[in-house]
Amino acid sequence: MSTATPSPVFERAYPTYESTRALDSLRAREYPLLDDTGCTYLDYTAASLYSRSQLDRHFALLRGHLFGNPHSMNPSSSQATTYIARARQRVLEFFNADPGEWAVVFTTNASQALKLVGESYPFAPGGRFLLTFDNHNSVNGIREFARARGATATYVPVVLPEMRLDEDELMRELDRVPPSGHHLFAYPAQSNFSGVQHPLEWIDTAHARGWDVLLDAAAFAPTNRLDLSRSGPDFVAQSFYKIFGYPTGVGCLLARKQALAKLHRPWFSGGTITVASVQGDKYYLAEDESAFEDGTLDFLTLPAVEIGIDHVESIGMDVIHERVRCLTGWLLDNLLALTQTNGRPLVRLYGPRTTDRRGGVVTFNVYDAAGQPIDHRFVEERAAAANISLRTGCFCNPGGGEVALGLTGTELSSCFKQPAHETHLTVDDFRMCIDGKSTGAVRVSLGLVSNLADVTRFLAFARGFIA
Ligand SMILES: Cc1ncc(COP(=O)(O)O)c(C=O)c1O
Repeated sequence: MSTATPSPVFERAYPTYESTRALDSLRAREYPLLDDTGCTYLDYTAASLYSRSQLDRHFALLRGHLFGNPHSMNPSSSQATTYIARARQRVLEFFNADPGEWAVVFTTNASQALKLVGESYPFAPGGRFLLTFDNHNSVNGIREFARARGATATYVPVVLPEMRLDEDELMRELDRVPPSGHHLFAYPAQSNFSGVQHPLEWIDTAHARGWDVLLDAAAFAPTNRLDLSRSGPDFVAQSFYKIFGYPTGVGCLLARKQALAKLHRPWFSGGTITVASVQGDKYYLAEDESAFEDGTLDFLTLPAVEIGIDHVESIGMDVIHERVRCLTGWLLDNLLALTQTNGRPLVRLYGPRTTDRRGGVVTFNVYDAAGQPIDHRFVEERAAAANISLRTGCFCNPGGGEVALGLTGTELSSCFKQPAHETHLTVDDFRMCIDGKSTGAVRVSLGLVSNLADVTRFLAFARGFIA
């Protein structure tokens, strides 16, 4: 079994790890594939893992019920409607969101939730879209909707080495509120690049100045409690597989009902209207979350959301959080202490060096004895050979990547402006363009059933680069 006996140094540094021991037996019982395959899974920010009992409960439910399309009004359809309502209710409870104030729009993933906001937000001339460099591409993409409708899009940079935001600049930007139009501020509660947890207090700061706030919780919610009764953005995007592994293909947009009313959908579709007419050339959007749920919801999969939430709650988010905090701290302490035999540091970390205001995402590049970065693709190849699942590249977070890797706006623009690259640019072209600089990093991320053995194995792997 893949547990490692904690050393006295670990126990002294992270005494609360002991209180998370229940996760070891859970892992052995519910996640046997980890031991059976010998895989060291370190890619929880990309996807969490699912337990056997989630599958058992879901398939027992499907075997025991006749579910029909919820748009019909017959008994099998009512069965599906009941379970969809239960899933909605459970999501609200999980995020401590008052059902009187909040709506849950089911989507296929966080990206679709973000797109719903982007395409429906009342961007117009005079309006602003403000966002952090540190954002997933599915948030970055909203700038295209904003600009197409005459609003401006402005980025606030993050700053090395911790990759936190330049808060003075953020406050200056938040203070610049044009008198007309609607203004949206978007940021991630936790970076999927650096692990930085950006302050949830920015939500109130932005609200006080007249901004609407879109919080990307995709990397935060899997290992942190997000309590919407305390932090109240207008929109929150989430993918459920990132929290409990199964099901994939379901996410949600949690939206304040008031904020949802501000959105204007650019079209209508099956499931989103009360009445639509061909000859009368008119449609009436539904006045609740179904206005945003195009077509038939994945009604066979949605009951698995309730099951997943039950599973996480039976463990306790605080236990998951504490385990990830201890393991992240231990990983950072040890990784940062590694040196080449000539004393040069083995890695360069992009993000905070301690567990203060950060989550379990640890991103870095490995350096050789001459102080040259080792290509992240080579590290990934070696990791795969060692049956370690980690992630390399920029993780769909180009702003984070550009700051970490020292790519400037000028050199990026001069690359993109080359005639050959007007409409077409492969990753290899890009690599040539930026003249040998690293185009990516290595990301190790911890989650739900990470254990000390995972971290120990990864550190042994990292030591393999010492020459
Ligand atoms: C912070 C963050 N936001 C959004 C997403 C997009 O999630 P999805 O691909 O499930 O839509 C991810 C995925 O990794 C993420 O880490």
